[in-house]
Amino acid sequence: MAPIISVQSLEKTYDDGFQALKTVSLDIEEGEVFALLGPNGAGKTTLISTICGLVRPTAGTITVGGHDAQTDYRAARKLIGLVPQEMPTAPFEKVIDTVAFSRGLFGLPANPGLIEQILKDLTLWDKRDNTIMALSGGMKRRLLVAKALAHEPTILFLDEPTAGVDVELRHDMWRLVEQLKERGVTIILTTHYIEEAEEMADRVAVINKGEIILVENKSDLMQKLGRKEMTLALQETLVAVPETLATYGLVLSEDGRALTYTYDTQGERTGITALLTDLAKSGIRFQDLHTTQSSLEDIFVDLVKKG
Ligand SMILES: Nc1ncnc2c1ncn2[C@@H]1O[C@H](COP(=O)(O)OP(=O)(O)OP(=O)(O)O)[C@@H](O)[C@H]1O
Ligand SMILES: [Mg+2]
Repeated sequence: MAPIISVQSLEKTYDDGFQALKTVSLDIEEGEVFALLGPNGAGKTTLISTICGLVRPTAGTITVGGHDAQTDYRAARKLIGLVPQEMPTAPFEKVIDTVAFSRGLFGLPANPGLIEQILKDLTLWDKRDNTIMALSGGMKRRLLVAKALAHEPTILFLDEPTAGVDVELRHDMWRLVEQLKERGVTIILTTHYIEEAEEMADRVAVINKGEIILVENKSDLMQKLGRKEMTLALQETLVAVPETLATYGLVLSEDGRALTYTYDTQGERTGITALLTDLAKSGIRFQDLHTTQSSLEDIFVDLVKKG
């Protein structure tokens, strides 16, 4: 199947000469949840804005649902819902009107039932007659989502949907993404909460200084770069790791009550059997053992540090 979004050799240099995107190429498959991770200023919003036709590329091509995002802007844009990073600015407008208006912008007939459903899904129905000014920050963010969904887009961009929102709203967003995905909507989101990408994404890209440094299936990524740690809670306090165990690279906790062993999940052998044998030989006994797998966050921090 042809990708729903195809970005080829995209470059963006802003008017002040700053190059925000350096030759970005990327294909997004229909129906996937794609997470774009990267530090502040990496180029996430620039990339999204360019795909949505809000920022003009310096070079390269973008197609959305087969439509050229520049020469066939209206057809491309109609497929897209965009939840921008910035807050809405029309303070005196009424909630319900602004959502209905967003639909009208795309030349679609009014659909009060749909607008009602969207506002209910986002728990904004009770606030429908409020002005935007009279909403809390989290409600404004919900409103941005409602506006983006008003024309029933097949692709939804969420630029930091949960920045500065409470836990409940964050989980609401996750559920909403799940529902939309079930309906076949393709979702591209940026986030600084890596936990969020870990929770929702099928694929993950990392962008740093205007370059995509990695695109990978989330589970492959975690398998490939992930490491596991085994921690042993000791029966007796140790002062130092015995010389005979030096090859394992064990780390002794500050209180001397726990030993941590790190191993590669990809390796043929984990070395655990040998370690346990050697521990027993050294007379080190433990009362408990648990393993943890490194998170996407560890992987991300590693990558961006190197980048
Ligand atoms: N209109 C503009 N003119 C000049 N430079 C810009 C403009 N918009 C963005 N930039 C620069 O482009 C770079 C990328 O910005 P962008 O907003 O895409 O980053 P981001 O990855 O979305 O960051 P954040 O995580 O903070 O939202 C930054 O260095 C920014 O200062
Ligand atoms: Mg941004």
